[in-house]
Parts: sequence; C-alpha cells; structure tokens
Amino acid sequence: MKIIIIGTGYVGLVHAAVCSEYGHEVNAYDIDREKIEAFSSGQTELIEKYVNEPGLVNILRETMGKSLFFSNDLGAIVEGTDAIFMCLPTPSNADGSTNLTFYDAAAEQIAECLAKRKDSRRVVLVDKSTVPIGTARHLQGIMAAHGVNNFGVASNPEFLAEGTAVVDARRPDRVVVGCDVEEDFRILRRVYSQFVNHVRIKYIETTPETAEAIKYLANTMLLTYISFWNGVGAKIGEKMPNVKIDDLRKGVTADDRISTWGSFVSNGAGGSCFGKDIASLIYQLRQVNVSTKMLEASFEVNEYQKVYLIDRAITEAGFKFNNKTVAVLGLAFKKHTNDMRDASSIKVIESLLGKGVAAIHAYDPLANDTAREVFDPSKNILFEKIRYFDSARKAVTDTQALFISSDCEEFRGFSRTIEDSVKPPYLVMDGRRMIPDYDELVAKKFSYLAVGAMAIMPE
Ligand code: UDX
Repeated sequence: MKIIIIGTGYVGLVHAAVCSEYGHEVNAYDIDREKIEAFSSGQTELIEKYVNEPGLVNILRETMGKSLFFSNDLGAIVEGTDAIFMCLPTPSNADGSTNLTFYDAAAEQIAECLAKRKDSRRVVLVDKSTVPIGTARHLQGIMAAHGVNNFGVASNPEFLAEGTAVVDARRPDRVVVGCDVEEDFRILRRVYSQFVNHVRIKYIETTPETAEAIKYLANTMLLTYISFWNGVGAKIGEKMPNVKIDDLRKGVTADDRISTWGSFVSNGAGGSCFGKDIASLIYQLRQVNVSTKMLEASFEVNEYQKVYLIDRAITEAGFKFNNKTVAVLGLAFKKHTNDMRDASSIKVIESLLGKGVAAIHAYDPLANDTAREVFDPSKNILFEKIRYFDSARKAVTDTQALFISSDCEEFRGFSRTIEDSVKPPYLVMDGRRMIPDYDELVAKKFSYLAVGAMAIMPE
C-alpha cells in the first residue's frame, strides 16, 4: 500500500517506521524542514534529538530510501496514495478542551492537495493521534468543503507507551479501526494485513466515533486505576498501622481480573497522554451534560498525589523546608525517557521552591537538558535555585533531604549511596518506593517517608 504519514513526532515516526518495515511504501511528511533533514540523514544523534525510541533508528536505516521516504512537499507525494495517517500534536486549551489548530491546518493543506490530484483512487484519511470524539466527521467536512473526491475517513487510535513504542507498534494488543464503509475497512485491512486474524492481536472494526471513544476510555481508565491505588490503597498503608502496601498490592492483584500494571503506588502519573486526555474527556462530557465527578476525582487525586509527600514531610516528619537544600532525583515522567510533559517532578520542584528551600539539586539520567528548558530562569527567577548534577550521588551530597520522583532503576536500593553521601538528620521522601531496605537507613537515624507507608522516624 502507498501510505502518507502527516506529522513525524513519536507516534508518526514510529508508525512510519513499522509500516515501512512491513513492506508498504511510506512517505513521512512534516512541515518542520529541520526535522525532515535530521531523519533523512540517518544519523542516530540527529534523529534521537527529536524522537528517542529504542529500536527506531535501526528500522529507519534499514528502510530509508527503499520503502520509507521523507518529504516536506505534500503536493509531490499525494498522487496514488491509499491512506493518509494524521499524527499531529493535539495539545490542551486552558479549559481542558483539545486544541485542533495544528490538526485543522494540516487537514486544510491535505484537502487542497487532494482536490488537485489527477488519479481517482480511493483514499482514506485516518486519525492516529488522540482527537475528540467526532473529529473524523469534522475531517470529512473539511475534505468535502474542498471538493475532494472518492475519499473516506477513519479513526485508528494509537496505544503506544513511550520507551516501548516500537515493540508496541510491532505487536499491539489490539488494532482499532473505525470506518463508515466496507471499502475503507478493506483498505485498512490491507495496511494492517499482518495483524488481521492474528492469534493474539485483537483486530476491532467499528464506527469512527466508537474508535475515538475507545482511546479516551482506555487512557482515563488506566489513570483512574492508578488513582484508585494512590488515593485509596496508599492511604490505607499510610494511616492504618501494620498494613503493608506491597503485600496489599500482591494480594489484590492475585485476582486475574485486577491488573498489576497501575497498582504500583507513586507520587502521581505523568506523561503526554493521561492528564491531557482526561481533561479533554471531562470537557467533552460536560458539553453533553454528563456528570464528570468520577473523572474529576481521578484527575484531582493524581495531581495532589504529585506533591502530597511534601505536605506529609511537614505534618508527619516535622520537616522544615525553609532554607534547606533538597535533592530531587528523577525529573522525567518515568524511567527511560527525557520527556517531562506533566512529570510529577515539575510539581515537586515548584512546591519545594514555594516552601522557601535554599537550593534544589536536580538529577535525571536523561532529562537534565529538558529540565533546563522547563525551569527556564527567565520565566521564574526562583528557578535559579536549581542546580543540575551528572550523577545521583553528586546531587545528594550537601543536601538535607531527598525526593525520589521517578522509577529509574539506578534509584532502586539507593540506601548505600545515601549513607555514604550525607549524614542524619536527613529526610528521604520516596515517591516511587524505590528503597526496599529503608530499615537500614532508619537504623542509622535517617528519616524515611514513602508513598503507601507511615513515616518512619529514628528513635
Ligand atoms: C500511556 C499509556 O500506557 C499508553 O497506552 C497511551 O497510548 C499513552 O499513555 P505513557 O504515557 O508512555 O503511556 O506512560 P505509562 O508507561 O503508561 O506510564 C504513565 C505514568 O503512570 C508514569 O508516570 C508511570 O510512572 C505511572 N505509573 C505507571 C504509576 O504510577 N504506577 C503504575 O503502576 C504504572
């Protein structure tokens, strides 16, 4: 099949790579010339500056020039295409609604090109990035307004997680395809021929609106599940004596119907999808007068969860942040990425600065550069108090407290580094329960405060 991918962010580029690997002729288009040049260069460093997903560069090198091509001239590639995948950024507006500015601009551009094409082959316009329920229909309107002939619209949401996007795209749990007519389903069945009738992969065909809703329901369900553990499970461990949160998790998730994923209590879930999608679904449901109490609770639990260890440090551990130096380890929203969108660390650092800390020692194995952009001192003078370190050990040195805000492997069993680098009185705030041998720290007079457990103070 001849495919065009519009937008080469992590969704678009991974989709382009995997489709080209499966033998389709793929043209990936982006308005950003520098990006197209970087990807066309085939150089790891240039590619990974934009999208850093394990396994991606290898596929690009294999397929580039054979079945994968990059372009910033849409008019030149549109002829003879079977499917056009829309993989555009859809950020949030202040009221939670989805901002379709990039999407609409791209749709207009595609419509203009398609209206001028010479061939009359059926082309399907497919929404891949998460867009509000009804957007495929809206896309149909844009195409019709430009007089585009012989086209269909479809919704085919992606379910890729960052860091495993290539693996997820090669072997998805499910492929969801929402179309109006059989000839469009048929085109997408050919695009995804390796997944149709697969022994393990569920190939689901439905209406465009249902496909759009599946994505929102899936992501808000996952966040709500995490919020249930953080808002209920963790609290039981924190308030009821002798309840062990890890045993509680194991016992509850032993039931096949209850997922292990999401049951790991934390100082909140971040990333590019969860917060944005739940805000958008709340907005969409309010438009049709549906109560959004449950979703609002799930969102609020998650937001407060990001910082509440700091409140607990004050109320339960009696810690005074004023003029203290605090290390914050783990700046990205999870391990193996430099992405800080909606990362818990942002709220943690802002809260600490608000409590008058003297300095913050920040460290992340991948996200220090992203953090320098996020905490730009020209936006807020307080960000000058943040210093960046190239190792966790250096970041911890000369601090009076420490906050672990992501699940990087290197923070697991971090107690020895802490003991070697600082002396008590010292407070460890563990937002990811990364220190299973905390009793050794407590025996050496360190204070330990973790999500899901009562504060443990030295005798
Ligand atoms: C998520 C969905 O998993 C994916 O299907 C969707 O397409 C996009 O959003 P991603 O944003 O990459 O993917 O992150 P994910 O690995 O799901 O983690 C999200 C957040 O939840 C992270 O901050 C993670 O640390 C946190 N989390 C995850 C927990 O706090 N506890 C858990 O048990 C699992």
